[in-house]
Amino acid sequence: MSAPPSPQSLEPWLDRVHHGDCLELMRCLPSRSIGLIVTSPPFNLSLSTGNGDRIRYDSWGDAMPHHEYVKWQRRCLTEMMRILRPDGAIYYHHKTRVQSGVEQDRIDILEGFPVRQTITWARDGGINHNPGYYLPTADFVYLIVPSRQAFRLSKEARGMGTVWRVRQDTRNRYPGSWPQEIPDRCIRGTAAEVVLDPFIGSGTTALAALQAGRRYIGMEISEYVCQLARRRIAASAKSSRQRILAYLATRQCADRQAIIADTGIALRTIMWHLGKLTQEGLIVATTDPRDGRRRRYRLDRGSHFDQKIGATPPPERGCVAPIFDPGSAPDPRTDTSASSTEALFERSSERDEPPGPGPGSNS
Ligand SMILES: C[S@@+](CC[C@H](N)C(=O)[O-])C[C@H]1O[C@@H](n2cnc3c(N)ncnc32)[C@H](O)[C@@H]1O
Repeated sequence: MSAPPSPQSLEPWLDRVHHGDCLELMRCLPSRSIGLIVTSPPFNLSLSTGNGDRIRYDSWGDAMPHHEYVKWQRRCLTEMMRILRPDGAIYYHHKTRVQSGVEQDRIDILEGFPVRQTITWARDGGINHNPGYYLPTADFVYLIVPSRQAFRLSKEARGMGTVWRVRQDTRNRYPGSWPQEIPDRCIRGTAAEVVLDPFIGSGTTALAALQAGRRYIGMEISEYVCQLARRRIAASAKSSRQRILAYLATRQCADRQAIIADTGIALRTIMWHLGKLTQEGLIVATTDPRDGRRRRYRLDRGSHFDQKIGATPPPERGCVAPIFDPGSAPDPRTDTSASSTEALFERSSERDEPPGPGPGSNS
């Protein structure tokens, strides 16, 4: 655990997963500096009397006496409120559960905090089977908003409703991880530029932030899990780069609107990769002759191309030759969708730079 960056500026915190206790780390962040906090804390499941998962985190027991757990979570929320911008919001994920035959809700944690709405995340199923109660299939995302007026949802988000049907992601086997669609909906719901997840686990919130073209700050108490998240984030950045290259490989040239529309990658991520690929000499930026302004991009299949990209040489110069075929079997070097987090963790030799100052250097 190294010393946290100075509180003066947010810049050294951005696009990094920081190793440490989030309460201590958050105390080093400037007040009113963060636009959005999206988080799923440990649920204290190891003390549960139910039949559900006893989650085993790497270095977190998840078994506090209930009153201490409530006190701790309230301290975390208080710190989140301090660092939140006046127009910001917190999306705080939790769930109810049956304990000793009685439902335990989260009022004790949330009392006094300005909860504006409770979003129900309707999952497909669960594992907490018990003859005495229905299988719990709903989690809750509490939208906490400090200011009455300043917070505004994006237009698309307003009609989304308060029941989100989202399937659990069975491919990410990190305990307690949530499907990327949950942080994705929260992040795209606002225009916040910086998204903090103080309990980032395997890094799902960071992936959602980067794909929405936002910057992230992650915090995680386990060094091992920090590494896991950093590798997952790096692998996802690599796949954006590959998708852009594969897309350009099938075209004479394309402008950035077309690349955004056809790859689904966010503008900021695309611009970062286009800049980097141009610098590396892998693509060429030209001006559209029709209006003299719009920039167009094409692959530069110069002499270093294949060596740099690590691809099979195209049959002839300038010919259509995808670096990998997105329609065929996933490229094992870049495909994160089907891989477990453990598998990603093992790919320690693979490195790539995501948007921002690259993970792995931080902690
Ligand atoms: C429910 S998991 C988050 C999962 C995450 N949403 C994902 O998709 O991978 C909670 C995480 O909080 C971490 N954690 C527990 N106590 C912490 C603390 N005091 N500070 C920072 N992280 C902590 C745990 O190690 C665990 O990875």
